[in-house]
Amino acid sequence: MAKAVRVHQVGGPEALIYESIDLPPPGSGEVHIRQHAVGLNFIDVYYRTGLYKAPSLPFVAGNEAAGEVVSVGPGVTEFHPGDRVAYYANLGGYATERNIAADKLVRLPDHITYEQGAVLMLKGLTVWYLLHKTFKVEPGHRVLIHAAAGGIGLIACQWAKALGANVIGTVGSKAKADLALANGCDHVILYNEENFVERVKQISRNELCDVVYDGVGKTTFPGSLSCLKPRGLFVSFGNASGPVPPFALAELNNHGSLFATRPKLNDYVAKRADLIEGADTLFAAVISGKLHLPINHAYALKDAAQAHIDLESRKTTGASILKP
Ligand SMILES: NC(=O)c1ccc[n+]([C@@H]2O[C@H](COP(=O)([O-])OP(=O)(O)OC[C@H]3O[C@@H](n4cnc5c(N)ncnc54)[C@H](OP(=O)(O)O)[C@@H]3O)[C@@H](O)[C@H]2O)c1
Repeated sequence: MAKAVRVHQVGGPEALIYESIDLPPPGSGEVHIRQHAVGLNFIDVYYRTGLYKAPSLPFVAGNEAAGEVVSVGPGVTEFHPGDRVAYYANLGGYATERNIAADKLVRLPDHITYEQGAVLMLKGLTVWYLLHKTFKVEPGHRVLIHAAAGGIGLIACQWAKALGANVIGTVGSKAKADLALANGCDHVILYNEENFVERVKQISRNELCDVVYDGVGKTTFPGSLSCLKPRGLFVSFGNASGPVPPFALAELNNHGSLFATRPKLNDYVAKRADLIEGADTLFAAVISGKLHLPINHAYALKDAAQAHIDLESRKTTGASILKP
């Protein structure tokens, strides 16, 4: 029988309940997959706490995974039993088996493991669009990446460096600083101990940054704006410390005609052609060795609550997976 981690009532990590679920045969356009690895993401925490609203209760947590096709529903021609696949999709991920719309799936190349596939589809695709679409990082750009040793952070630092940028990362501990430096950061700032704005000014000799990638939110705002050169781009893509508070648009003027955006992956992979472009680019980057995926923690799926406790208490580095 299929098992899943469901949330019946939003709340703390104890809201994650590992239990049996009924899984009907795949419907029209759906594929039944047996999952081999599930990605752990801060977004899973937002849904569990209710910061992001799930469409209904109970819901199966989780937003990215990889596995093999068991069977396909009517009308599915692109996938067949035995195919190795991975996906990003809102909710439904923390499960041993599930049904999912075929157009969410991508086929995994032979050289990409299930574990890699499970962290590439949300974390990897997010880094892909942030560095290639939201702002096109090019040689010579100076970029600031907050939470540089996190799941998104370590991939972003590696890729920004590979694109020729000068990379400044912020991190919460000395051990994380070493990790960030080993993964593409040119400079690391311990933002719990140092004034990161002053350090960015010092490191850049007051030239500041072309772009700031901020997934931390509340505690790094408005400092992130002060790290940008005139006409720089503030990319607020997450809320690990809480949402950015409402602010006056005039702040962007005061800091030098800045641009600001609050992007989300859904809008960058809504068209299947974009999803395939992103996945192909990622797989090629991993297979060529340009990107190394730091999968630093693995938990049994039934221990999802512990995984959330560790993620929220900033104990994890790089990517973490749940094993069904
Ligand atoms: N918009 C999108 O399309 C999109 C897609 C995926 C993810 N995201 C966002 O990307 C960010 C990173 O996600 P992730 O899954 O890779 O998580 P993560 O970076 O592995 O974990 C979050 C990190 O944020 C830092 N942090 C700072 N203040 C914190 C606080 N008060 N509580 C907890 N952590 C805090 C911690 O690093 P330090 O100890 O080094 O400070 C922590 O390790 C999240 O904000 C997520 O929502 C956005």
